[in-house]
Amino acid sequence: MRFQEGFLWGGALAANQCEGAWNEDGKGPSIADTAPYFGSKQDYEDYVCFHMMSKDDVYACLNDQEGCYPKRKGIDFYHHYQDDIKLFAEMGFKVLRMSIAWSRIFPHGDESEPNEKGLAFYDRVFDECLKYGIEPLVTLSHYETPLGLALDYGGWLNRKTIGFYENYVKTVFLRYKDKVKYWLTFNEINVILHSLYIGGAILKEYTSNNHDQDCFQAIHHLFLGSALAVKWGHELIPGAQIGCMLARRESYPATCKPEDNLQCLEEDQMNLFFTDVQMRGYYPTYMNKYFKEHHIHIHKEDGDDELLKQYCCDFLSISYYMTVVSQAQIDENTEMTTGNDLFGVKNPYLDSSSWGWQIDPVGLRITLRRLYDRYQAPLFIAELGLGEKDMISPDGKIHDSYRIEFLKQHFEAISDAIEDGVDLFGLTTWGCIDIVSMSTSEMSKRYGFIYVDADNYGKGTYQRMKKDSFDWYKKVIATNGKIL
Ligand code: BG6
Repeated sequence: MRFQEGFLWGGALAANQCEGAWNEDGKGPSIADTAPYFGSKQDYEDYVCFHMMSKDDVYACLNDQEGCYPKRKGIDFYHHYQDDIKLFAEMGFKVLRMSIAWSRIFPHGDESEPNEKGLAFYDRVFDECLKYGIEPLVTLSHYETPLGLALDYGGWLNRKTIGFYENYVKTVFLRYKDKVKYWLTFNEINVILHSLYIGGAILKEYTSNNHDQDCFQAIHHLFLGSALAVKWGHELIPGAQIGCMLARRESYPATCKPEDNLQCLEEDQMNLFFTDVQMRGYYPTYMNKYFKEHHIHIHKEDGDDELLKQYCCDFLSISYYMTVVSQAQIDENTEMTTGNDLFGVKNPYLDSSSWGWQIDPVGLRITLRRLYDRYQAPLFIAELGLGEKDMISPDGKIHDSYRIEFLKQHFEAISDAIEDGVDLFGLTTWGCIDIVSMSTSEMSKRYGFIYVDADNYGKGTYQRMKKDSFDWYKKVIATNGKIL
């Protein structure tokens, strides 16, 4: 038996991509509610990565009567959660990773009293999970910072945001302490490197003309927020397990040229910097050198270093979709590839999904081993999956054999990593029911075992249908990964 007894098999969702009900029951807008439907990945990158969002941009979205903002409607999980969780239970889920929409609890972000209706909603959702023996694993912040904190404070660039986050975290810990044991402090904390808005809720008006200075200062604040979440989790919740979450970017050197290897090491360090701080409790020397070379000065207050040192995360979780290649010299002929905010040189040995994400199960085995060697702490795969265009066949069914094949190969690689000695206690496949895409805000990029009848413009019956992968995953879970 490679997968340990009690291995947490399940699926993952994020509030802003599934709940909808964006302004119901007192919920305030979050940064996700300003994301329009993008026709292409390029449009998305131009809008949120290469262009700095300003206050005017935000107000234009909020006042836009014509545009299409799919995350505001999601898949209407807010009103379908009972039926959806019932389907997850039918598959045998042991765990459901989901996030709390921060602005459902604190609509503007800076209130001292929470919104009771928002809190009551998550009570109902957690109770529904627990009714079926499904353990909730909750991301405290999944690209859904309250818009009020972006507009009035400059998001995570402002040290005050740490206090607002701390208040929110303490509120939900106290409320759900008997229902939720597993928590993640921030989704893909490193994504701020590619988008100050998505990762840090930072608007142009608050930035200086030194992007890196702003970015790393905000990251310092995120680290402090994460450490405080660990502190309060341990103090308020019996047996709490508080983890961090990294968009893992595993990379191979393009050749055995020493320069390519050095480049690979440096890119890897920029990825692992985040977990080095959250798992080891201090800034690594390679980053101190980087700051010096780039004239970055992190403003720290007394006690910051001690806080980071004292409150490391209990486990490390990752999202894993693809790998890239590192090369010292690139020019206009070098073929590049992207995923969600991960860029790199294309690997000629790998196939890609329809969205160009390079498929690499062996890379997952490598990454799990590397991370375990480095931190010697329990690991959890918080996201893994294949986004594809699923079609309804003439027989009325969805035959997603490509998804089964993708997951089977990755599960085999995971099982090998466990055999290699990695301590992995669970995995949640991404978008276990079809949801709105994070990047392009489209519905046609589907990850689920359950199909949702909705299109990119929010039209459809929103009816749920099992895909072929539904029964396949059910069997995987029932046999604890013996039959893949
Ligand atoms: C991860 C995010 O980066 O990738 C998720 O944490 C996201 O929120 C997932 O949905 C897949 O990306 P996309 O753009 O295909 O939805």
